[in-house]
Amino acid sequence: MRVLIAPDGAAAAEATAARIAARLEAAPASVLGLATGGTMEPVYAALIDRHRQGLSFAQATSFNLDEYVGLAGDHPQSYRRYMREHLFGEIDIDPARCFIPRGDIDPEKAAEGYEAELSRLGPIDLQLLGLGRNGHIGFNEPTSSLASRTRCVRLSASTLEANRRFFDGGETPPTTAVTMGVATIIEAREILLLAVGAEKAQAVQAMVEGPVTAICPASALQFHERATIVLDAAAAARL
Ligand code: GLP
Repeated sequence: MRVLIAPDGAAAAEATAARIAARLEAAPASVLGLATGGTMEPVYAALIDRHRQGLSFAQATSFNLDEYVGLAGDHPQSYRRYMREHLFGEIDIDPARCFIPRGDIDPEKAAEGYEAELSRLGPIDLQLLGLGRNGHIGFNEPTSSLASRTRCVRLSASTLEANRRFFDGGETPPTTAVTMGVATIIEAREILLLAVGAEKAQAVQAMVEGPVTAICPASALQFHERATIVLDAAAAARL
């Protein structure tokens, strides 16, 4: 695992976007693994800028990590909507080649179908990851098996709390999600995890310096031969 520490969040996001752009320039038909969350917004903004300067996504395929169960695809907090608004709507990627787990059908069927698409079109060449404050990747919460595959999971209290800010006051946020498993994620040829801000520092320390354990699902990346962790100074403060 390689750790890159940028001076601030903007530089960390820029370095992440630059790596994705370089991969696409070298191999336009890449399979990208994509993530959601506030951390990714500046990364996608930088990719949209690059697209306006000529970077093409036309031959790429993408797989998103996860989706809430029970939200329609156009719900403001669904990850489908997030991806449309923050990236897909602004670039030339073929929507038929953008895969996101279905949160609006039977979750077991959604998970099975997703694994089938991944084995048909994968492996993922470059997987982008964020990091939960509790060490989750995708929605693989602490105690998720490191051998887990795409499945339906219950969200932890800490994740529900962290993500509540995105939902309207009167609305009950979903408590379950469909997520690629830890084993599914680490099958990617290359992994790029971006974490910024002091609230991620403890999870970063557990991921990089702690034991490899299901208590911190991100620690599984220690075994990946091409995993790069991109941090700002605040997220790296406990290393
Ligand atoms: C969410 C997503 C994760 C994401 C994480 C961090 O729960 N399922 O894929 O990495 O939270 O989000 P943020 O970047 O908003 O801190």
